[in-house]
Amino acid sequence: MAKIGDDISIAKKILEEGGLVGMPTETVYGLAGNAYDALACANIFKVKGRPSFDPLIVHTNDVERIAEFAYLDNDKLSLLADRFWPGPLTVILRRKQVIPDLVTSGLETVAVRIPNHPLALSLLESLDFPLAAPSANPFGYISPTSAKHVNDQLGEKINYILDGGHSKVGIESTIIDFESDIPKVLRLGGLEIEQIEEQIGEVEVNRHSTSNPKAPGMLKSHYAPSKPVILGDVEKLLLANNDFNLSEVGILTFTKVSDQVPFDNQFIMSESGSLPEAASNLFKGLRELDSKPVKVIFAEMMPETGLGRAINDRLRRSAAK
Ligand code: TXA
Ligand code: MG
Repeated sequence: MAKIGDDISIAKKILEEGGLVGMPTETVYGLAGNAYDALACANIFKVKGRPSFDPLIVHTNDVERIAEFAYLDNDKLSLLADRFWPGPLTVILRRKQVIPDLVTSGLETVAVRIPNHPLALSLLESLDFPLAAPSANPFGYISPTSAKHVNDQLGEKINYILDGGHSKVGIESTIIDFESDIPKVLRLGGLEIEQIEEQIGEVEVNRHSTSNPKAPGMLKSHYAPSKPVILGDVEKLLLANNDFNLSEVGILTFTKVSDQVPFDNQFIMSESGSLPEAASNLFKGLRELDSKPVKVIFAEMMPETGLGRAINDRLRRSAAK
């Protein structure tokens, strides 16, 4: 198992030697390595079991440092960066050659983000290079929102996990691409579309799920627990259910408890009905239910507004085969 702690100097040393560490961010935990070191990045793909056609996000602590590895030269983009960084926003930029091909899967663009987490920012500030970091989960499984989640799944393969507590936002960053006139959201995430549009006007939302996508985080089946997930109105699903013994059903709901299934097999994302709170609990809930002795997970969809859209996106992918 990996060592878990909050010592930035340990993480720094491992990264400078070409190793990988678990890194907390406000969205989800990342599996971080030196973004300029092709070998370290190759190891990220290996540890995650990630296909090489799925490029990585490069993290830095300061907008000024981006010029070292990419071109941040679009007005709308600068507006977003000013307003939302550090934060759950990833932008696609033209890259410079110092970024290894492996990081971008051969694309001429690179995904860039400044995370809003004090430990991640201090670590990045202490380093001479940016960090490539995908979410620290095995490819296709639920993303981690605590150091323990990382340790449970990748602990055998890495030496150190920087513990920054529970990830506050809880779902991955919103990814936006400025290649065409109307900016395109490639992945719904922790920054609401409404907030983006308030700054830069209309954006297009890419809803296509395909097996050969531009942003492979758009893969149809992703964030999936090992148990099947069925989406809908949970009470109606329970009423219509003929396939499962009710004691073997897990339920993931927004606000309400059900008296149909054992309380132990229920996860309520936000009793007060807060979408940000639900987002921050979503992956934890899926993981907890996945570890219970249930055969299926019935999950409730959120209202399609604000963070509800990103939560629904993750729920649909976790239910996709
Ligand atoms: O919140 C986050 O973004 C987390 C934390 C750790 O920062 N990271 C994360 O990384 O979610 P990952 O690897 O799980 O997802 C990265 C996504 C993938 O869907 C990938 O296809 C997309 O970013 N991506 C990376 N580079 C791209 C590029 N040049 N063009 C289009 N999409 C890109
Ligand atoms: Mg991921």
